[in-house]
Amino acid sequence: MREALMAHARDVLTRYPDPNSAMLPLLYLVQEADGWVSPAGLEEVASFLGVAPAVAESVASFYTLLQKRPVGRYVLQVCTNLSCSLLGAEHLLDHLGRKLGIGPGETTPDGLFTLQSVECLAECGQAPVLQVNLDFHSGLTPEKVDALLNALRKEAEQDV
Ligand code: FES
Repeated sequence: MREALMAHARDVLTRYPDPNSAMLPLLYLVQEADGWVSPAGLEEVASFLGVAPAVAESVASFYTLLQKRPVGRYVLQVCTNLSCSLLGAEHLLDHLGRKLGIGPGETTPDGLFTLQSVECLAECGQAPVLQVNLDFHSGLTPEKVDALLNALRKEAEQDV
């Protein structure tokens, strides 16, 4: 584990009786530092815990909150499971793709948005649902999505 993360990583370990249970927060720690979990990041966590890199990879591959490739500032994750699909998720995904000029899994050239289609976000009763980084947006329509994109662009402009 790199020196800059070592103190935090050791602190994470103290919260778990079984060190392997710290895998997820440690992977998230690496993502917070790097913006995504690279193969080197996977190895770093695996080595810290004394497990094979494949173990870290298997955990990372299960969670859509962990990014396995570089992403934009805002990761737009559209749930396309049953409840959301029945209420227009595919249409929303297409709408977002047209608005951003990218497809699922892609990032806008300005690095602002990454679009992803994900499995159930556990808010089925409020479908269709979209997660932007750690924020949930539910009961979405194309109009609400447009307003959300505008708000995110404004937020990004204010930070420049
Ligand atoms: S089906 Fe979309 S949140 Fe569960």
